[in-house]
Amino acid sequence: MNTLTWLPEFTLQQPRMDRTHQEFVDLLAAVEAAAPGEAADAALQTLLAHTEAHFEQEEDWMARLGFAGENCHSMQHESVLQVLREVVRRHGLAADAALVGHLVAALAQWFPVHASMMDAALAMTMAERGLDPETGTLLQPQAAGAAAITGCGGSRCG
Ligand SMILES: [Fe+2]
Ligand SMILES: [Fe+2]
Repeated sequence: MNTLTWLPEFTLQQPRMDRTHQEFVDLLAAVEAAAPGEAADAALQTLLAHTEAHFEQEEDWMARLGFAGENCHSMQHESVLQVLREVVRRHGLAADAALVGHLVAALAQWFPVHASMMDAALAMTMAERGLDPETGTLLQPQAAGAAAITGCGGSRCG
């Protein structure tokens, strides 16, 4: 399998987001380490619930910043959740260690790219616009009449 471990470069200077991302890395490692069968099932369910909350949190921040509901960052979240939910469903029907291995490898490849581009762009926009991640308050609201943001806000994302 393809273990993902936390690296200093994953830090985005956004403590709430960084904490959630560290938890994601730990929960993915727990899925990888779980014994096949019920333990793997439980670890997958925990990872799914955490990832749903993780993405919901980022999407709430995006909504407060004026991102369109269907921006590229949110669409990528949705694709990942579809795969994760399908793996959890299929694993619940018949434990399949190979399926879990493929999921872990795919998420281990996906996370560093997503964090360094989309989440980094979101963290930067949050800092620029003064969004408090704990309270959701925004120092610089979107100008009245401004178009919703459809990209992820980064220079490498359309
Ligand atoms: Fe994230
Ligand atoms: Fe994200």
